[in-house]
Amino acid sequence: MTLLIYGAYGYTGELVSEEAVGRGIDVVVAGRDERKVAELADRLGCEGRSFGLGNGTGADRTAVDDVAENIGDADAVLNCAGPFVDTYRPLVEACLGTETHYLDVTGELPVFEAIAARNAEAKDAGVCLLPGVGFDVVPTDCLAAHLHDRLPAATRLRLGFDPSGTISRGTLATAIEQFEAGGKRRHDGEIVDVPVGEGDRRIDFGRGERNAVLVPMGDLSTAYRSTGIGTIDVYLALPKPAAIALRAGRFLSPLLAVEPVKRGLQRLVRATVTGPSEQKREEGTCYVWGEASDGDRTVTSRLQTPETYALTVDAATTAAQRVLGTGDGDPVGGDPGGGDPVGSGNGPSAGFQTPASAFGSEFVLELDGVEGFFDE
Ligand SMILES: NC(=O)c1ccc[n+]([C@@H]2O[C@H](COP(=O)([O-])OP(=O)(O)OC[C@H]3O[C@@H](n4cnc5c(N)ncnc54)[C@H](OP(=O)(O)O)[C@@H]3O)[C@@H](O)[C@H]2O)c1
Repeated sequence: MTLLIYGAYGYTGELVSEEAVGRGIDVVVAGRDERKVAELADRLGCEGRSFGLGNGTGADRTAVDDVAENIGDADAVLNCAGPFVDTYRPLVEACLGTETHYLDVTGELPVFEAIAARNAEAKDAGVCLLPGVGFDVVPTDCLAAHLHDRLPAATRLRLGFDPSGTISRGTLATAIEQFEAGGKRRHDGEIVDVPVGEGDRRIDFGRGERNAVLVPMGDLSTAYRSTGIGTIDVYLALPKPAAIALRAGRFLSPLLAVEPVKRGLQRLVRATVTGPSEQKREEGTCYVWGEASDGDRTVTSRLQTPETYALTVDAATTAAQRVLGTGDGDPVGGDPGGGDPVGSGNGPSAGFQTPASAFGSEFVLELDGVEGFFDE
């Protein structure tokens, strides 16, 4: 069983590739830069493959055919190249054409919505489409499913997280991409616009009350599909001055719609920002909170997880092992959580999946260093 990791020489991709090779998975590292792919493949002692994704729209058949040729012999693709809005289309298109399972570590709402729309095609092709096997959305999606189990009649869901440590350049570049679209929430099943930085409230994520604001995270797509709850808000802990700055930054949104301005900012971020150090990844803790209510009753649950990138590496690698049905290797850092492959009866079903729909709400508890669920 072969896993092709695309964007393998990026900050997250490299950590995931090291972990996957360390766990004994048969890995092909891939990306668009031939030299960087060759260097990484050489260092990890695995196969490397360089290919681009065309213009990223998936509409260019020649580019999709080229991607299909490059991924065709793999059993699953794990996409770590973001912003994912620029990369998912040709890879998903090629995965559907070659009957290859697709996973990624996106947290981008439009990407989840677009991939969910391919559900029927994926079922027909026997392919599992599983975006979001990173920090966002594994803990929040599993927490949402857990809250729904506790209160099946819930009609309203609130989720949120209080991360720690610094963020990587790719996440900043992705945030710039998302900022342009403004704030979002889900109301009665529909995704609706809210002003950026809206919804200021105090939330106890697990270490006392913190200021928090609404954010347009992928959970608005995944939690809706994992629980069927139609009204969902997602919050991020943000100190008051940062929330005020975010609201003031609303006026930047029209500027970010100008493609050269957005791309220029993203290039600047890539050139000047690095990811969290190994020490920060090891020491960081993240607090995840959720609340479900049916109008009469409200239930609250919490999780405590390792730093966001540490969790992403573990979650993405474990999810890939589960999809491939290969969990018997010698894991780095804990139980690999092996299982049965897609469509075998016990593995995740073909079609669009969220982490919780694929592996159940307790998937997050199998990951190294996760504590919970703390129920109220
Ligand atoms: N969900 C989560 O919790 C979570 C956690 C970690 C990361 N992420 C996301 O993962 C993504 C990567 O983050 P990072 O910090 O690893 O960023 P990074 O260090 O900048 O790496 C990005 C990688 O993607 C590749 N890439 C970007 N656009 C591409 C395109 N159009 N075609 C082909 N390759 C492309 C880059 O290749 P080049 O160098 O050749 O451009 C590079 O290999 C971000 O979107 C981030 O938000 C999400």
